[in-house]
Amino acid sequence: MLTKALLGIFIAAVIKLTTRSWLQSGTVEVASVLNSSYDFIVIGSGSAGSVIATRLAQNGDVTVLLLEAGGHFDEMEESHVPGLWYKMLKSDFDWEYYTEPQKSCGIGINDRRIYWPRGRVLGGSSVINLMQYTRGNKYDYDEWERLGCKGWGYKDILTYFKRSENNVEPGLRATDYHGTDGPMGVSSGVVSPLADHYIQAGKDMGYTIRDYNDGEQEGFSLYQIHIKDGVRSSTGKNYLSLVSGKKNIHVATNSFVTKIDIDNVDKSAKGVYFVRNNRKFYIKADKEVILSAGAINSPQLLMLSGIGPRDHLKKLGLPVKADLPVGENLQDHGRIQLFTHIDQPISVKSDTWSMYWNGIMYKLFGTGVLGKTLAEGTSFHYTDKSQRGKNYTNVQFNFFSSYQHANIESYNDTYFNELFSKTPKEYGFMTALIMNHLKSTGTITLKSSDPFDYPVIEPNYLSEKSDLDDVVKAIRIWERFIETPTMKSLGASVDQVRVTSCDNHIFRSDDYWKCYIRHFFITVYHPCCTCKMGAPNDKTTVLGPDLRVKGVKGLRVADASSFPHETSGNINAPIIMLAEKAADLILDSWRK
Ligand SMILES: Cc1cc2nc3c(=O)[nH]c(=O)nc-3n(C[C@H](O)[C@H](O)[C@H](O)COP(=O)(O)OP(=O)(O)OC[C@H]3O[C@@H](n4cnc5c(N)ncnc54)[C@H](O)[C@@H]3O)c2cc1C
Ligand SMILES: *[C@@H]1O[C@H](CO)[C@@H](O)[C@H](O)[C@H]1NC(C)=O
Ligand SMILES: *[C@@H]1O[C@H](CO)[C@@H](O)[C@H](O)[C@H]1NC(C)=O
Ligand SMILES: *[C@@H]1O[C@H](CO)[C@@H](O)[C@H](O)[C@H]1NC(C)=O
Repeated sequence: MLTKALLGIFIAAVIKLTTRSWLQSGTVEVASVLNSSYDFIVIGSGSAGSVIATRLAQNGDVTVLLLEAGGHFDEMEESHVPGLWYKMLKSDFDWEYYTEPQKSCGIGINDRRIYWPRGRVLGGSSVINLMQYTRGNKYDYDEWERLGCKGWGYKDILTYFKRSENNVEPGLRATDYHGTDGPMGVSSGVVSPLADHYIQAGKDMGYTIRDYNDGEQEGFSLYQIHIKDGVRSSTGKNYLSLVSGKKNIHVATNSFVTKIDIDNVDKSAKGVYFVRNNRKFYIKADKEVILSAGAINSPQLLMLSGIGPRDHLKKLGLPVKADLPVGENLQDHGRIQLFTHIDQPISVKSDTWSMYWNGIMYKLFGTGVLGKTLAEGTSFHYTDKSQRGKNYTNVQFNFFSSYQHANIESYNDTYFNELFSKTPKEYGFMTALIMNHLKSTGTITLKSSDPFDYPVIEPNYLSEKSDLDDVVKAIRIWERFIETPTMKSLGASVDQVRVTSCDNHIFRSDDYWKCYIRHFFITVYHPCCTCKMGAPNDKTTVLGPDLRVKGVKGLRVADASSFPHETSGNINAPIIMLAEKAADLILDSWRK
């Protein structure tokens, strides 16, 4: 007994001594006193902003100020631990947005408002996300180019993906597609024996097994994730630590930007107003302001600064400095979650997180389930087979190897219990069935002229009838997956997702699935495209292909909002790619 207690105390002491050193090794300093002007001011330190600020400070003989509304990532140690990602949701690191009540779906969601988490911390949403590393399809970028984004075709941008990546998997490092000395670690998501079964089921269906980041995507793959040595790679930590302490960059946290100062006469961005620790500041930008506040806050800040749809700005009493379709063209990926029990002990058990031993293994060695996300496999599909080989895929499955689920999505408790707690068993997995090219689009508008008011988020999910039909087509692919010999041999069955709310329809009929979708369809957290880039003469665009705001000098937008069209898969890597290229464009323009 006594020796066991002593051993426990000893282990606890070792944990205490070792955690900080390796979990928080990428130190990023915060500036307490700021200068009155900088060459560049970057607003928002998210997936894009941290990359841009770092590359400008590294590669240019220039001064940089990075302004971030949230605090430092080290304020929550869990932010570094992949298996605890869900603890970021609704924490101090989350803006916690909600959409307007949805008309075409959301029956099973509280008030029909879909919860939209967004990072509010140094590193932005890359500190609270699920770390899945997905570049999209080569046809995505060829479409961008066709839409007028000159220089953004697949052949032009592949190099920027590689620049950010440090892939640690030998099999992937050896290929032409991956980077090996970039700041962001990428490793395999595999953690359980179930991973092999997803792949085998894909083979049963006749699909190719591939590296889904090879430009084409159709087929089954093991997941690649933004994790190195069991620790989350975020842009806040992995990029900014490269320039921390350098004399030409200041990083300011707790700095909430309220407006960009646009000169009335020559329409140029002169500086930025912000509130830091309850004090108001104005700091001048000698060269440029780069707006990287994300797909919700970038359009919000543009509108607050007088750049947006004329009628909307006038109605709120805001000046109109440039009349542009800011906040329109909101796109997102949507999903349903499908749970499958299995009768073999090969998934991660639902009580694993609370197991003492797992905590110790992780804290001492960075190994075990806490060092992974449980997304082990992914697959990409076409609902319209005629698009094969000449267009991007439109469906993605993510396979999470645990049956464990807490109500982190703001489901109405009544429906949540029906969906997730029907016949609790220890082993199983969850398929996130994701629609990557929905036709319905939405808007971000201002609620008021007060910068502290949250903007109005209206995604209009499934408002286009064909979207609902496409989700059903995707479910038919999933049914085939569950009914492969491999999945059947594990005891998997479609029956698991039979819900009483839709009992008035024949189980597995089109109408049954439409009912299910209308209840449970939610976001994949990938809003984008609200300050669309494209051809300068295209009236639907806000930015030119150099990311400059049309008709305004010294102002660019570079983040998820700059996308002209959403990519096929998780968008964090494409945003980092965009930011790498943005930094090149900016520095090049000042060298001339
Ligand atoms: C829960 C979750 C899971 C996800 N999982 C994945 C995944 O597994 N793989 C993947 O590829 N993608 C994933 N994503 C999506 C991806 O993380 C985001 O699309 C991406 O991080 C957005 O990058 P961004 O630079 O556009 O914006 P953000 O990273 O959100 O950065 C914007 C920054 O600007 C700051 N800001 C905003 N307004 C102001 C202001 N007024 N003043 C100062 N600062 C301001 C914010 O605090 C934030 O730090 C996920 C997202 C979420 C929320
Ligand atoms: C949850 O669903 C029940 C049953 O449909 C409904 O009465 C209730 O109003 C819902 N609650 C919320 C917050 O949406
Ligand atoms: C701030 O100003 C000082 C004094 O002019 C200068 O030496 C320093 O480089 C500036 N720092 C930044 C990050 O611009
Ligand atoms: C590519 O596929 C999408 C649907 O996923 C479709 O809307 C689009 O028109 C297709 N593009 C071409 C060029 O066929």
